[in-house]
Amino acid sequence: MKIFIDTADIEEIKEALSWGIVDGVTTNPSLMRKAIEKYRMDSLDEYVREILRVAGAGRPVSLEVMSLKAEDMIREAEILYDKFNDVANNVVIKVPVNTYAGNYEGLKTIKALSEKGIPVNCTLIMTPEQALLAAKAGARYVSPFAGRIDDYIRTTKLGMQAGRDFQKGDYYPWDGTDVDDNGIRSGSDLVEKTVMILDNYDYDTEVIASSIRNARQVRESALAGAHIATIPFKVIESMLLHPKTEEGVKKFSEDAEKANYREIFS
Ligand code: E4P
Repeated sequence: MKIFIDTADIEEIKEALSWGIVDGVTTNPSLMRKAIEKYRMDSLDEYVREILRVAGAGRPVSLEVMSLKAEDMIREAEILYDKFNDVANNVVIKVPVNTYAGNYEGLKTIKALSEKGIPVNCTLIMTPEQALLAAKAGARYVSPFAGRIDDYIRTTKLGMQAGRDFQKGDYYPWDGTDVDDNGIRSGSDLVEKTVMILDNYDYDTEVIASSIRNARQVRESALAGAHIATIPFKVIESMLLHPKTEEGVKKFSEDAEKANYREIFS
């Protein structure tokens, strides 16, 4: 499974790249806002170029449009692509599957952009059916939002029945509850069913497990055969953690000293 880093923070991107595990980057307007507040850069254009340069050729970087109508999203996508793709030939345009009830602006945008050869990452996917439509319209990637579906089931569907508070990063479901969102039991279930449906019909569209909040969702996305998971920096860090690993390192270091093992390296 490819790993994208889900951030617009240049330092996080550089650090994770140095670990040799990053295959791409996803940004969204909220992540951009965080980075702008943190770095107070003079030029947003230059900052985006820096992200693209640092990611480098062969590592796609998703940049999102901001309008709600197809003609505006297409224009914005073209501007983003024309302005930035020359930097490292790695720009992907993020388009929401739907911008409000009763319109088809997302699908029209995906169709138009893919016909122009501009790769699209269809975002805000909350059902496998949305993913199927986006793939048919020509999306290069679809991004099912695991964490937000967990939020939705926990708050809207379970509500007070949940009987406990939950934190953003908590794994769900915690007890095999049978409450669901129209047959989708959890964010991981959304990812799994999306992968299965696109596999059934051999779509070239790749599934990016998105809105990932904990390491277990990464595991379940990989088990489901998601092509990619886009993961926040802190969740990538948490994937390395286990108390027995720390304990083992401590014990081996102590025994190495006792065995005078250091002699070999001198
Ligand atoms: C990535 O493409 C998405 O924009 C991102 O994963 C959303 O994550 P969030 O639901 O934690 O904001």
